[in-house]
Order: sequence, then structure tokens, then C-alpha cells
Amino acid sequence: MDRPLRTTLEQLINTRTNRREAVKGILAAGGAMTAIWCMPELSVAGPGDAGSIEPEAIEDQGVGFKELAHVCETGDASEVASIGVTEGYNTQVFIRWGDPVVAGATKMDLLRPDPKDQEKQFGYNNDFIAYLPIQRGSDNSRHGILCVNHEYTHPELMFPGITYDDKLETRSDEQVRIELAAHGHSVLEIRQDDDQAWHVVPDSPLNRRFTLNTEFEISGPAAGHPRMQTEQDPSGKRVVGTISNCSGGVTPWGTVLSGEENIQYYFHGEIGETTEVENLKRMSIDGTGDYSFFRLDNRFDLGSTPNEPNRFGWVVEIDPYDPNRPAVKRTALGRFRHEGAATALNHDGRVVVYSGDDERFEYLYKFVSSQKYDPHHLEKNRDLLDEGVLYVAKFNADDSVKWLPLVYGAGPLTWKNGFFSQADVLIETRRAADFLGATPMDRPEDVEEHPMTHNVFVVLSNNVERTEDQLDPANPRPVNNHGHIIELNIPQVAGKPDHAATDHGWSMFLKAGQLEQDDAWYQGQKPDTWLSCPDNITFDNQGRLWIATDGFQKASGVLDGIYACEVAGPRRALTKQFFHVPTGAELCGPCFTPDNSTLFVAIQHPGEYSTFDEPSTRWPNEPTSNLPPQPSVVAITRTGGGPISG
Ligand code: FEO
Ligand code: CA
Ligand code: CA
Repeated sequence: MDRPLRTTLEQLINTRTNRREAVKGILAAGGAMTAIWCMPELSVAGPGDAGSIEPEAIEDQGVGFKELAHVCETGDASEVASIGVTEGYNTQVFIRWGDPVVAGATKMDLLRPDPKDQEKQFGYNNDFIAYLPIQRGSDNSRHGILCVNHEYTHPELMFPGITYDDKLETRSDEQVRIELAAHGHSVLEIRQDDDQAWHVVPDSPLNRRFTLNTEFEISGPAAGHPRMQTEQDPSGKRVVGTISNCSGGVTPWGTVLSGEENIQYYFHGEIGETTEVENLKRMSIDGTGDYSFFRLDNRFDLGSTPNEPNRFGWVVEIDPYDPNRPAVKRTALGRFRHEGAATALNHDGRVVVYSGDDERFEYLYKFVSSQKYDPHHLEKNRDLLDEGVLYVAKFNADDSVKWLPLVYGAGPLTWKNGFFSQADVLIETRRAADFLGATPMDRPEDVEEHPMTHNVFVVLSNNVERTEDQLDPANPRPVNNHGHIIELNIPQVAGKPDHAATDHGWSMFLKAGQLEQDDAWYQGQKPDTWLSCPDNITFDNQGRLWIATDGFQKASGVLDGIYACEVAGPRRALTKQFFHVPTGAELCGPCFTPDNSTLFVAIQHPGEYSTFDEPSTRWPNEPTSNLPPQPSVVAITRTGGGPISG
């Protein structure tokens, strides 16, 4: 590509405000990403080398696999169009968009998908993955339940004749119905065969689909409030549908939490002059969303149903072990763009749920339950997430963090500022947090507790809009193209974590990017493979951190992937790539079985920035086929078996 295009894309990345705007710009710039920033890694040592260790000296330390080199989007075409894993591992495309889930389902004909069939088939854009052993509470790594979020849809990749720019008008009503059914969540009973291959147990009574047509209960302090009531639901306690289910978490009692994230894209029409105007603006709901659901259901028409957006943006709790139990939106955890919802058990038995609000300059939250988890009586934990205190984080200049309670009547959260109840505080969590002076972060994505140290890792994906005069210790880079990860130092009480503490320290874990040109930092050393735009994280059973990326291709022309590193010792934060996705995709939901013998990863939106008619990849289908790419879950195992990173 020539220089002018580089300028165009630099401007694009520096000005885009979300994925959809980025896609529009990329398509306008020529229909494909360019690899102009996909540069070879510089070989000189990084800053802060004093005391660093030579690679030879630590050859036998660290993560136990050979580095997978970056794949540049302009590299070998077959490599770019597919997945790749480092030597010594096997990959299985375990389930794809359109595969059967619910009893009686058929496999999708990708050239003639059907909305009724989609209700029973695996949804689109798989994101969060949870593996729950069968039986509940066991560590069975060969037989379990896989829970998968379906975040959103790409009609221009799902159906012929649609482009990114005209999709609002050109998709048919039938295609819109397929999209409604392709959102949500899948629950799958799965087994591993003797040859390491995984399969869905066909027609299992545990297999379920949650879609935009499924009814959910609403519980907690905002349930039933007049601002939650609509013509269709005068009770304010039942809502049809869940949308934009991004990441999530698993509770100690074996339920799954699913975060409703980018709800702003789903509502259309005039905001008008209702009392919800400020609320809608604060959630970036401006009536110009790029979904067409409003054509079929006036719940998505802001003029007709101004309260409907108040019924989305929550954390959903699903019990995958009980197919008859309805899923519940837990309002006590607040309403914002939940990336996920990671639970941690406090030293005294209370349950803490950490959640990031994934937008530039938004906040980090945690919920602390009032009651304690009871490991012996499942039913006592059913509504544990309905009562407690939601906090928002303020990072101080002295490398400490203070958690500020979002409680109606306390401080500025009173009628004087438009809050008349705790329901108001929760429905407008962001506006309440503004009044408390919370710290605006660089797009909080995943937040996870380390299984051994109990420290909490917070992923900040990127924020190109941060300026020099907006820096703080927890968000230290202007034009943060590559993101960073911070580690909250959780205090202990009698050797157990005090996640309910409202004051404690934190430290920088890594600043992503390439050392010499991005002010990157990996504990003062040079990583095996640098990374960019961290998103979802998980830990293996040796306590190593696995980091999935989303946006590396946009930022640097390098295919997204998953990286692993130690969290302590001389190789702390020295990331090494393990796996890469096909062009256009992001990697989501990394999830190990309890014995770490399988790593499930979600390949979301392969072929993004292209169309069904001219896809940049057809993965996992053959490149010579006439089939579109399919978001899919891949199971990774070690050749010969054993833990992934032994
Ligand atoms: Fe859906 Fe924040 O990623
Ligand atoms: Ca994410
Ligand atoms: Ca993301």
C-alpha cells in the first residue's frame, strides 16, 4: 500500500470510536486491512534492561511451548486465511455457527439459513466460553457443559447481496429473524472421545439456546421499577431477549454469568423528549443503531418504547445444569456495557463480582454480596447476587485504588442529581459513577482473579483518544493504541483474599506494543512475542496468564491470537504467542478444562471487513467452496495428551 493509504488508516484508527466505525472506514479505504504496520520486530534490547536476564539463561523457564511467530495479514495467503497453533498441538473445529444444539435441530444450510431452525442451532459470533464439569462441583475434564455467548451478527458475512454500508436497508425480514435467533447463548453437553476429539451429546436435555426471543426474569433492586416497565411487560420483571452477550464468568455455585455489552447498536428512532434522554445519551444510545430489529418489533423503536433500553445492559445468570430454570438479569450488578462478570470468593464467604465497562473513558466496577456463599446448600445461593453493594474504582496518584460505593442517598446520589431510589442509581450506573469521581479507564475488558495469589488482573484494551492532559498512573499513555494490563494487589485476611477491601494497592503488569516504538513495558524486559490490544484472559492451573487479543490486526496488521506468560519470577509478563486466528477475526473466551488438557477458544467474526460475496476467508470451510466463513469454537489439545502448558 502506498503512503496516502497509510495516512488514511492512521487517521481512521486515531479517530474511530468503535468497531463498527472502524469497519466502515476500512471498507471505504479499499475493502481490506493493510499490513503496513506489520513490521519485523526490532532486535535491540528494550528499555529498563538493567538486571534483565539473557534469553539463554531462562531457556528452560516460562511457558512450555515453542513461540508461534506473528502472522502478518499480507503474508502467505493460506496461512492468513486460517488458524494456526504452535508445534506439538492439535486443533479441532468443535462447533460452528449453524450446527445443531437443541434436540431435533438440523445442521444449517449456509446458503439457505432458516430463522426457525436458527433458534435451535449454534448462534453467531461466539465470545465467552465456560466449561462446567458433569457432575456439578466435580473436576471431570472429559464430560461437561460448554456455555458460549453469541455476541452479535454480521449480516454482510451471513447473507449474500449485503454490504456493510447498506445492511440496514437491504437485509430481508427473514434475515432479520435469523439475526434475532443468532444472538444470545448456547448451552451444550459435551464429551471427549478416546482420540481427544470433542462432540456435542446430541439431543441432550441440557442443550439450550437463549436468543432475542427467549424470556428472562429481572431481579434485584431495579426489578419492577416504573422505569423498567413497558406496555408489553407492565410488571417490569420479565423481558424478552438478551443482546450483545460478550464475556462472562462462572459462580462458585456453578451458574454462568453473561455480560450484556454493546446495547447501543440495537435501538432505533427518535430519542424525543422523554425523561430518559440523559440516560440514553450516557449509554451512547442515539437511535442510529445498525440493527433492523425495530422493523419487526417496536420494542427496538425508541419513540414507541423509551423504557426498553433500561431492560438491557445487565448481567444475566444462567444455570446450565437445570434446563428448566429461567435465566435472570441481576440488576444489583449495575447497568453499563458489561464486558464480563468475574466472581471471586471473599475470605468471609461473601461473593465479589468484578466487571469492566468497555468503552473509552469508562469505569471498573465490583459488586460485593451482602450474604455469604453456602457451599452445602445450592438453593441458598440462588439469589445471592440480588443484594449487596456495587462499587466503582478510583485510582489515586500514589498507586492505590479506592472503591467508591454506589448507594442511593449517600453523597451526591440523591434527588438533587436525579436519583430517587437505588433502582435509579443502578439503571444509570455510569451517571452515578460520574458524580463519585471514578477514574476513566482505557476500555476495561476482561477482569479475572488469579487462582493462587488472588490478585485481580484488569485488561485495558486500548484508547487512542486519551490525550497528554488526561494521563493518570493507571492510564499512563496518550493515544494508547496497544492497551495495558494492571494487577490489583488484593489484601489478605488470615491468608485469604479480602476482595471487599475498599483501599488497596495495584501495579502495572505490562504495557502492550513493541518496545522501541510504543513506550511498551514488559517488566523491563523483552517478551518472546509482543502483543497488542489485550481483551479476554484466563489462567492455567500453573497460574500462568493467557491473553487473547482483539484489534492487533487493526492496530498493527498482525493477526489476533493468544499469548501466555508467567505472572511471577524472572519471566513475569514475558508474553509468547501460542495460536492465531484467521484474518478479520478476534480471539475470545479462552477456557481450560480443569485438568488443562483442552483449551477451548472462540474464533469470532472471521472475515470481518469483507462480505459473503467476497469473503477474505471462508474458514473453517474450504477456500475453494462457495460457503461463508463461520464463527466457531476450536478445541486445542496437546499431541499425545497432557496439560496444554505442562
Ligand atoms: Fe465485546 Fe468488550 O468486547
Ligand atoms: Ca471482549
Ligand atoms: Ca474487544
